[in-house]
Amino acid sequence: MTKKLFVKTFGCQMNVYDSARMVDLMRTLGFEETNSPEDADMIIFNTCHIREKASEKIFSELGRFRPLKEERRKQGRDLILVVAGCVVQAESEEFMNRAKFVDIALGPQTYHRLPEMLCRLEQKRKQRIIDVEFPAVAKFDSLPQACSNGVSSFLAIQEGCDRFCSYCVVPYTRGAEYSRSLKEIVAEARQLAETGTKDLMLLGQNVNAWHGEGLDGKPSDLSRLVAAVAEIDGIERIRYVTSYPSDFTDDMIAMHRDIPKVMPYLHLPIQSGSDRILKKMNRRYTRAEYEEIVAKLRAARPDIALSSDFIVGFPEETDEDFEQTMDLVRRVTFAQSYSFKYSARPGTPAAAMKNQVPEDVKTERLERLQALLIEQHAAYNAAFLGKETEILLEENAKKEGFLLGHTPQMQNVIIKAPESVLGQIIRVRIIKTAATTLDGELV
Ligand code: SAH
Ligand code: SF4
Ligand code: F3S
Repeated sequence: MTKKLFVKTFGCQMNVYDSARMVDLMRTLGFEETNSPEDADMIIFNTCHIREKASEKIFSELGRFRPLKEERRKQGRDLILVVAGCVVQAESEEFMNRAKFVDIALGPQTYHRLPEMLCRLEQKRKQRIIDVEFPAVAKFDSLPQACSNGVSSFLAIQEGCDRFCSYCVVPYTRGAEYSRSLKEIVAEARQLAETGTKDLMLLGQNVNAWHGEGLDGKPSDLSRLVAAVAEIDGIERIRYVTSYPSDFTDDMIAMHRDIPKVMPYLHLPIQSGSDRILKKMNRRYTRAEYEEIVAKLRAARPDIALSSDFIVGFPEETDEDFEQTMDLVRRVTFAQSYSFKYSARPGTPAAAMKNQVPEDVKTERLERLQALLIEQHAAYNAAFLGKETEILLEENAKKEGFLLGHTPQMQNVIIKAPESVLGQIIRVRIIKTAATTLDGELV
């Protein structure tokens, strides 16, 4: 009899990828994914530690499953609760103390051992398991083959980070920078293509720091890796996220010009427009260097859509520093973006810095920045009105009878079309635009 698995994922795309791999793994043990926790024999919570709000949300959401577990126990059945991801890695002991009903807690580097943990759990009922090691044998070597779940897939090519931005928990939760081998990546991309993937998002915490040996034995960087992946039949669209500005090279810019499968979209977080704050953040580039990369990219690929991340209210950020960020945004212009209030994270250098910015100042700055960014997103999208573009239809839209797809620039497009065209790349005309979504019609 198949058992049911419910997975809830928080945080970044890497966590989405990890969740998909856990599903692949549990499938080999006879588990099938379900959308309803009430049916589940096992629940996996994949958590994120990046900002305080993200972590706190986990506890409140997790608490909702406690009655479900107790009810199951009364029926003589069990519901196994697994918590995975970065919160566990950062604070496994405290976590297990606060969430006494959790059976297994595992970090991002040990989820390949889940079958073994389940076996241990069966043997010693009631004994809870915590596994947050950084094992020497990479998890990627012991995971089953990846299987596409739709036409768009994530593929982790790099994990961890050596950058140590002063506000960030990722180097602690994900560990040191690790690049998977090109061979392994190409094999996984092929497997995904064979099982239906057309659109591939290459993932890494610092994706453009990827390095390895090319198929020719020579040292290779992201541009050569992407060229190898672009050779795979069936893969039509390639993107990669997240890039670090000072690891962005001219070869990577050239690949946006030379490889048609590389989509005109780049997420390149700047965080702040003030050099003084960038330095305090331990971001190793200046605002001028960032603008130079953008200018070169736009020269190489004029239709490229740029996206970025911003943090407002970093310790010591003055009104003047914040105005620099606003000014940078006005000069560069972004098609998409993510912006956050600085959140002090335990154990990071910035949390101990003097002159933390008051919450109301952060709120006000964030509102002003987001108003400007939303205006830019809307203007960017408005320029597509009446134009034709190609979208890959990825899933059913919320609205009955409509499908959701993405343009090469990663804009959401909703279109009235039969489900039979799901998974196809079709030409559409844009008939309505807003800041986050476009409406299209078949051409
Ligand atoms: N590796 C990626 C992103 C990691 S986290 C990079 O280097 O860009 C995603 C985003 O969360 C970051 O770009 C940053 O904008 C934001 N972020 C990270 N730590 C934060 C913190 N302590 N407070 C507020 N935002 C934070
Ligand atoms: Fe965090 Fe900085 Fe590494 Fe990005 S580059 S994951 S923000 S430490
Ligand atoms: Fe969150 Fe971990 Fe990703 S902290 S953003 S899930 S790397």
